[in-house]
Formats: sequence, C-alpha cells, structure tokens
Amino acid sequence: MESIDQVERRTAIGRPTALAAATTMQAIVQSRYGAAAQVLELRDIPKPVAAKGEVLVRVHAASIHVGDAIIMAGRPYFLRLATGLGKPKNAVPGTDVAGTVEAVGTGVTALRVGDAVFGWCTGGFADYVCVSADHFVPKPANLSFEQAAAVGVSATTALQLLRDQGKLQPGQKVLINGASGGVGPFAVQIAKAFGAEVTGVCSTGNVEMVRSIGADHVVDYTKEDFTKGEPHYDFILDNVANHSLADTRHALSPNGVLQPNGGGHSSGRWIGSIGGVIKVALIAKFVRQQLGPSVKFQNRADLLALTELIEAGKVTPVIDGTYPLSRTAEAMRHVAEGHARGTVVLTMRPTIA
Ligand SMILES: NC(=O)c1ccc[n+]([C@@H]2O[C@H](COP(=O)([O-])OP(=O)(O)OC[C@H]3O[C@@H](n4cnc5c(N)ncnc54)[C@H](OP(=O)(O)O)[C@@H]3O)[C@@H](O)[C@H]2O)c1
Repeated sequence: MESIDQVERRTAIGRPTALAAATTMQAIVQSRYGAAAQVLELRDIPKPVAAKGEVLVRVHAASIHVGDAIIMAGRPYFLRLATGLGKPKNAVPGTDVAGTVEAVGTGVTALRVGDAVFGWCTGGFADYVCVSADHFVPKPANLSFEQAAAVGVSATTALQLLRDQGKLQPGQKVLINGASGGVGPFAVQIAKAFGAEVTGVCSTGNVEMVRSIGADHVVDYTKEDFTKGEPHYDFILDNVANHSLADTRHALSPNGVLQPNGGGHSSGRWIGSIGGVIKVALIAKFVRQQLGPSVKFQNRADLLALTELIEAGKVTPVIDGTYPLSRTAEAMRHVAEGHARGTVVLTMRPTIA
C-alpha cells in the first residue's frame, strides 16, 4: 500500500488544482502506533485512481477484526517487523469491505461499473479503495453491504480451518471455543453446513445467539468447563486459548483433533500471542491430536465458496453493530475488548460529492 504522500503525488501531479481538490475522500489515517482514540484520525485524503488490472470501489461498509486492533496498537512489537517498524506501513487501516465498482482499470473484464461487490484490500476504512480486480467478487444478493463486509478474513479463516485443516465430515462432533465473536459464528454455521453436530462455547449473554445460528449444544463458559466433561469431540476449534493445550485435548475423542486459533488478545508487549503460536507449532510436532498454527490468506476461490453457502442460506453474518466512519476509534476499542457479538462494521457516507 502506498503512503499518503505517495497517493498525493500520484493523484495530484499534472492535474488542475480544482480537479485534484474534487478528488478527495474521507479516510481513517494512522501515522503512529497506539490507542484508538490517540492514533486514528478522520481526514480528507486523495481519492485513488484505478491502474491497469484494478478496480476503484466506493466502499459502503468495512468490518473490523481483532487483527486490525492488533496492528493499530503495534503490539506485540514483534509484529512490527511485518507491519512497519516505526509506524504502520499502511497509513489507512482496514481490509474487508463491500461496495460498488465506480471505475475499472484497463484489462478488467470480470467486473463492471455499478457492480455490487465484496472482498479484501488495504486501506479499507475509507470512502474508496483501489485494488486488483481479483480481490473482489459479486456481493451475494441476499446480503446487505454491511453483512457482506463482515464476511472477509473471519469467514475465510473459519472455512479454511474446518474444511482444509479439520477435513470435517458429516456426523462428526465439533466444538467451537469462542463461538460468539468474529470467527466463531461463521465456524458454527460452516460446521453445521458440513453436517457436523456442533457445540458452541460462549458467555451467558451470547448463548441464545449461538443457539439461533444453529449450534446443537451451547456451553456457557461462566457455568461449565468443557474440558472437564466426557471426552468426545472429533474436532475442536479453539479461538480463545483460555485452557492449557493438554486440558483442551482432554475433551477430544481418541481420534479427535485440536486446531488452536487463539491468543489474539494476549497483551504481552514483545511477542504477545506469538509466544503461544510458537508453543502450538512445537507441540504439534510431537502430539498426534493437535494441529499446528495455520496462517490463512484471503483468496477469490474461498470468497466464492462462502458466497455459495451464503446464497444457500447456510451462512449469515452476525453483526454486532454498525458505526459511522467518524466513530472508528470507538468501534475499534469495542473489538479490542474481546467480547463483540459477531462482527463490528463501519459504514461510510451514503453519497459522496
Ligand atoms: N477475526 C479474524 O478474522 C481472525 C482471523 C484469524 C485468526 N484470528 C484469531 O482468532 C481468535 C478469535 O478471533 P475472533 O475475531 O473470533 O475474536 P473475538 O471477536 O474477540 O471473539 C472472542 C471470543 O472468545 C470468547 N471469550 C472471551 N473471553 C473468554 C473466556 N474467558 N473464556 C471463554 N471464551 C471467551 C468470546 O465470547 P464472549 O464474548 O461470549 O465472552 C468470543 O466468542 C483471535 O485470537 C484472533 O487473533 C482471528
């Protein structure tokens, strides 16, 4: 992603001042790491221009994930090797968006101006994004833009962990620890779509929601510890990492498998949850019933697979709430607290001058 200076040079040079001024947009800009209220600014910046192979998308909604909150804070410090040492490499945060194609660059044939789309990008917390056309697919007709923006990395993660890592089969008993946040509700619904018998784990206030999206059983973790029950799960997706790996494996059937996917809220300054990820990777080499960490990337094929599940009515995003772009800091704080009910979504201005 370009810096704001680079975007300014690319969009303003050689253009009349009035045109350059008319091609600005609102975006959330972050020039240093820190707490949401201190580092996220709503600013006018130049609107990007679609280059060859790219589409310009007018963003209607963007979702916020735990990963966005981690990158914003720049903690654990270890992650700055990837996200930028002194300040975030990407001046505008946000990856998962839904909107309308406003312009296409040369060579783009799969999408047309006016198409409603969803997909992934850098700089999503803005009125417009410009990205390679293959990052976007048509928005499922039965979803609003807010719901479509929520799909992104959370649903892709759930799909890849259950389908590719877990190789889920109909009739298997699956437990989703952390069933009510960003990843969990997608995991519950995808596991049900694959024919599993699903148990979701969450707190009291989310029990009804997790049941309403199809979980066969719900464990309220404030009243019951799933690691102490009869060991009978064929697959456990652990989004929380609030038990030892050995205790969690205790809940597995003899051939069951544990897929850890947690620790994102760990507050350690230097390596934070990375320490847990390294431990998971090492243990997985020696323990038959545990899979290692799995880095997931968004891709077009999985967005299309999710679209099929969504259009068949098997998966519907759960939205915690929507916030206007001007309240991004508040929304980001809520996600970082680790108890959002489903996905938190930002909405942009309905019409852009
Ligand atoms: N979101 C993504 O796209 C994504 C992608 C890859 C990996 N990850 C990783 O996956 C993990 C989960 O992400 P997420 O987006 O689902 O997080 P999240 O939205 O913060 O959800 C956290 C979940 O954990 C539960 N929880 C919180 N405290 C708990 C406790 N003490 N005991 C048991 N459960 C508790 C919450 O339930 P209650 O609210 O009911 O307490 C909620 O279901 C994170 O470590 C993240 O880094 C996320």
